[in-house]
Amino acid sequence: MNLQGKNVLITGGNSGIGLATARLMLAHGARVAITGRDPSKLEVAAAELGNGVLALQADLTLAGDVQALSERLGSEFGQLDVVFANAGIGGSTPLGSTTLEAFELILRTNLTSVFFTLQAVLPLMADGGAIVFNGSVMRELGSPGSSAYSATKAGISGMAKVFAAELAPRGIRVNTVIPGATRTPIWTRGDRSGSTLDGTEAFLAPHIPLGRLAEPEETANAVLFLATAAGITGAEVVVDGGATGAPYGAPIFRQP
Ligand SMILES: NC(=O)c1ccc[n+]([C@@H]2O[C@H](COP(=O)([O-])OP(=O)(O)OC[C@H]3O[C@@H](n4cnc5c(N)ncnc54)[C@H](OP(=O)(O)O)[C@@H]3O)[C@@H](O)[C@H]2O)c1
Repeated sequence: MNLQGKNVLITGGNSGIGLATARLMLAHGARVAITGRDPSKLEVAAAELGNGVLALQADLTLAGDVQALSERLGSEFGQLDVVFANAGIGGSTPLGSTTLEAFELILRTNLTSVFFTLQAVLPLMADGGAIVFNGSVMRELGSPGSSAYSATKAGISGMAKVFAAELAPRGIRVNTVIPGATRTPIWTRGDRSGSTLDGTEAFLAPHIPLGRLAEPEETANAVLFLATAAGITGAEVVVDGGATGAPYGAPIFRQP
């Protein structure tokens, strides 16, 4: 896949799935801009990714940061060919004990900010470009305590299809990658700090047909595919080890 001459924006590109996607896009020749909130993590990611990466600090829940991001991309890149709208947070919102602030922070980060970031950078998008949203299998799992997060990811799936329709006249393709549980820091931060990835995998793997968490590089491959797959728009690619497509193949259901 040759991305030579293509400009890519990856929100939340200093960690996890976004960082793996930045590595992959750079390896295929793209010029990549990554964003993140944490300047020290951005610095580490930029040093690892090396030449060809533009690291921009932005909290996408802040309108001023989004505006500044769009202006900086305009002056540095001029035009964007691919946007991976990936930044997001987890967080528990159980019925009965959730504050409005906790619920709205997840909605604002994972849904509202995604819309307004894309709206801000849209004037830079080349006709014929591609947007890839990052959704989640949580949009359909009914996982207890995840109302806000699951609602945002169901919202992403719906919103992506609206974008696909609205941007079709410009030939901009819009698709969504749907990761299952993936080996990234999202499982060990926020109200999960203190948890470990190995502990999470031990708990979840018996319910996943392939018997393990996904690797961020596996989702990155799907993002690259969707970013370059002419003719595909309004579609989703699921990267979940079979958790939603073939749940009864999980180790927990196998005969001893
Ligand atoms: N890992 C999974 O199991 C899984 C499964 C399904 C879907 N996903 C989705 O994958 C996406 C990436 O998550 P990940 O697993 O790679 O987790 P991660 O390693 O924690 O990365 C999250 C990224 O989002 C950025 N971010 C969070 N809030 C932000 C804000 N307000 N403004 C700007 N950037 C912000 C973070 O920046 P800082 O680090 O600087 O805060 C970080 O770069 C998320 O949308 C998540 O919902 C993950």
